[in-house]
Amino acid sequence: MATPLLSLPLLIFSLVAISTTAHNITAILDGFPEFSVFKGYLTQTKVADEINTRETITVLALDNAAMTALAGNHPLSVIKNELRLHVLLDYFDPQKLHKISDGTILSTTLYQTTGNAPGQLGFVNITDVRGGKVCFGSAVTGYKQDVTYQKSVKEIPYNISVLQISSPIIAPGVLTAPAPSASDLNITGALNKAGCKTFASLLESSGVLKTYESAVKNGLTVFAPNDEAFKAKGVPDLSKLSNADLVSFLLYHAMAGYSPYATLKTTTGEIKTLATNGAGKYGLAVTTSGDQVTLKTGVDSSRVASTVVDETPLVIFTIDNVLLPVELFGASPTPAPAPEPVSSPTPSPATAPSPASEASAPSPIESPPEPPTESPAGSPADAPSGESESSTADNSGVSIYAPTLVKAVLTGFVSVIFSALLF
Ligand SMILES: *[C@@H]1O[C@H](CO)[C@@H](O)[C@H](O)[C@H]1NC(C)=O
Ligand SMILES: *[C@@H]1O[C@H](CO)[C@@H](O)[C@H](O)[C@H]1NC(C)=O
Ligand SMILES: *[C@@H]1O[C@H](CO)[C@@H](O)[C@H](O)[C@H]1NC(C)=O
Ligand SMILES: *[C@@H]1O[C@H](CO)[C@@H](O)[C@H](O)[C@H]1NC(C)=O
Repeated sequence: MATPLLSLPLLIFSLVAISTTAHNITAILDGFPEFSVFKGYLTQTKVADEINTRETITVLALDNAAMTALAGNHPLSVIKNELRLHVLLDYFDPQKLHKISDGTILSTTLYQTTGNAPGQLGFVNITDVRGGKVCFGSAVTGYKQDVTYQKSVKEIPYNISVLQISSPIIAPGVLTAPAPSASDLNITGALNKAGCKTFASLLESSGVLKTYESAVKNGLTVFAPNDEAFKAKGVPDLSKLSNADLVSFLLYHAMAGYSPYATLKTTTGEIKTLATNGAGKYGLAVTTSGDQVTLKTGVDSSRVASTVVDETPLVIFTIDNVLLPVELFGASPTPAPAPEPVSSPTPSPATAPSPASEASAPSPIESPPEPPTESPAGSPADAPSGESESSTADNSGVSIYAPTLVKAVLTGFVSVIFSALLF
């Protein structure tokens, strides 16, 4: 019963998810072997996904020699921030470069959106110097503007422009930042700090922490329910689970591989978790609506609330609800939210996402204060905060449990008809 119900929405959501990326930087660079090293690092660091999920963007590309020299022996976390400094959150084609008013402008970069770029560190200065030459450099005062524009590689107005520059843009401290240390990658430490103490202690007492820790070196993405999630109504009594089932439940809250938020947003369909032990077993469906990623188990769902750790190769997200796999908790959650004879006008907390917990949830994934240049309209950073203001509007897409499933199926049919009409 659960399976046929589930597969249709999954299919639909994959269709929807594909359309969330405006372009594919990897595919664009496929045609240019002289940028293959640059492309390789964009893919490896997942900065490619950050690029693909943004509109109105300019990528300052380095050829193989320049990129190889830049990468040197630096850890991937350092290369990642360097690459982010080479992605401008505005569209510059050659014409626009030569028409900069007053001949100079600061542009916001992807690095600024990490929230870890103090002062002008996350900005690039573009100057149209006399003689038709355009120079780039860090916007930090005193930094040389000695990187020059070479040629346009690809223009898709006004979505993405790829420009070749002569050499890397260097900003203070970015290249010399240390690789993440063991304490940066301390899972329990990070979970305790993020208000996920219950989850952390379950990981420890069950021994699953060891499995997580040994998975980190090859990449690990953790979905950690916050402490409120374990106290929510309708959460089954976990102490009644056998040891083996508790282990599966905890392994279900992580997946192999480094999947930061932008990567999750471009993920389509079902993902395997660490609990997956066969085709279609213990899978999670990832759906994206605007900037919000939601995980669906087939029993319940949760939004991905915030990023606690994003240090290649480890990502830890907090989530608002525990994830109840079908394999352990069947298709219908404990108190069926549908017909209740009791005449209580207020919706039971199990059926609606609680606005209170949303309000107190940690800050949204990215915190981009995006000043000077015109930032792309409807910057995704607006999405999460707007959502919590109008909790009544929530049932349009992000609400939970069985009724949503039915609604999703209905919406699914409508979209199928639509796409059938389109093709
Ligand atoms: C630019 O992006 C928008 C939104 O993703 C898309 O609808 C449009 O087709 C894109 N334009 C081009 C020329 O690819
Ligand atoms: C982008 O293109 C590459 C091929 O260059 C492909 O492997 C990848 O799946 C594409 N990504 C998306 C999100 O479509
Ligand atoms: C960019 O750098 C040049 C040279 O240091 C400086 O004169 C100019 O004012 C800077 N542009 C902006 C917008 O700050
Ligand atoms: C991780 O942090 C916890 C405290 O939060 C500490 O007890 C533990 O020793 C740390 N583990 C490592 C490997 O540093």
